[in-house]
Amino acid sequence: MTVGFGVLGAGRIGQVHARAVASVPGAKLVAVADPVAEAASKISQTHGCTIRSIDEIAQADDIDAVIICTPTDTHADLIERFARAGKAVFCEKPIDLSLSRVRECLAVVKETNAILMVGFQRRFDPDFRALKQAIDEGRIGAVEMVTLTSRDPGPPPIDYIKRSGGIFRDMTIHDFDVARWLLGEEIETVQAAASVLTDPEIAGASDYDSVNVILTTPSGKHCTITNTRRATYGYDQRIEVHGAKGSVSAENHHQSRVLIANETGYTRPPLLDFFMTRYVAAYAAEIAAFVDALENGTPPPTTGRDGLMALALADAALLSVHEGRAVRVNEVLGQ
Ligand SMILES: NC(=O)c1ccc[n+]([C@@H]2O[C@H](COP(=O)([O-])OP(=O)(O)OC[C@H]3O[C@@H](n4cnc5c(N)ncnc54)[C@H](O)[C@@H]3O)[C@@H](O)[C@H]2O)c1
Repeated sequence: MTVGFGVLGAGRIGQVHARAVASVPGAKLVAVADPVAEAASKISQTHGCTIRSIDEIAQADDIDAVIICTPTDTHADLIERFARAGKAVFCEKPIDLSLSRVRECLAVVKETNAILMVGFQRRFDPDFRALKQAIDEGRIGAVEMVTLTSRDPGPPPIDYIKRSGGIFRDMTIHDFDVARWLLGEEIETVQAAASVLTDPEIAGASDYDSVNVILTTPSGKHCTITNTRRATYGYDQRIEVHGAKGSVSAENHHQSRVLIANETGYTRPPLLDFFMTRYVAAYAAEIAAFVDALENGTPPPTTGRDGLMALALADAALLSVHEGRAVRVNEVLGQ
């Protein structure tokens, strides 16, 4: 079986997913839609697919699944529209910026029996999978504390930031998902600190660029997350998990593995520059997992509920910053 794909939105992540689809056996990129003709034609020319409107993709017999790569505030409407059109849906994070809108959208997914996978690609990164496997095999004993370091090389354009829902919902949301995945327990409380240290324009957009978060589970496990929108040395993506019998860590990816030692010290090539280069394998593996789920009729590995819970943690972090206290996740979930 070959799954025919339509990519909606041909910006930064749309191009990444188009390349991922093209690299996955059993997946075929059939069409792309974007109101900006130049963006759509870049994908169409690179991958030899057609350019179609959203309506044409929704009605197309040769398209089984769509990948939603449009701005965040369009996701929930598009999920509902394609769920109703009988297409399987892969949607980039976050599903929406409002928990109540996410709930409404997931109700439509359920009602239409649609398949929905949410794009948390870090779970599919080969290093992070190996780290998770070491935990699952008991090699470090019971997980006690997780440390996640995620630093972007530079901020996205200010217009993107204004529509993004803020750093917790846009950037830290990946770390919130990884934390739930690695801790193996839901989070009970969230304590966060946030500042603007890199660019006052970000404060003007009512956002932060430098945040730290401590998550605590009911059994007392912790996860510490540190994020900034500026790292002069590249895309800094590291995980360390400390357990009762040891620890496991995943280090950064450099442009090559060469290490030069001389009288001035030790020198390595720079880190990979951003998500488009660092997570190439992860994006391909997540689309492969989506195709597997469609072929085998199994639930996709990252679900609408994962999207909802990560957003709840983001909302709790923001409330924690505003009120200067630890916030129970149930407060924002309304439970
Ligand atoms: N998982 C990740 O690592 C990751 C990385 C970057 C972005 N994202 C998410 O992907 C989404 C897009 O981010 P981006 O950085 O690619 O943004 P972008 O601004 O680069 O691209 C968005 C594209 O969507 C197009 N578009 C707008 N409305 C549309 C519509 N109704 N139909 C079709 N196309 C439409 C725009 O013209 C633009 O080309 C955001 O929700 C973001 O949170 C995820």
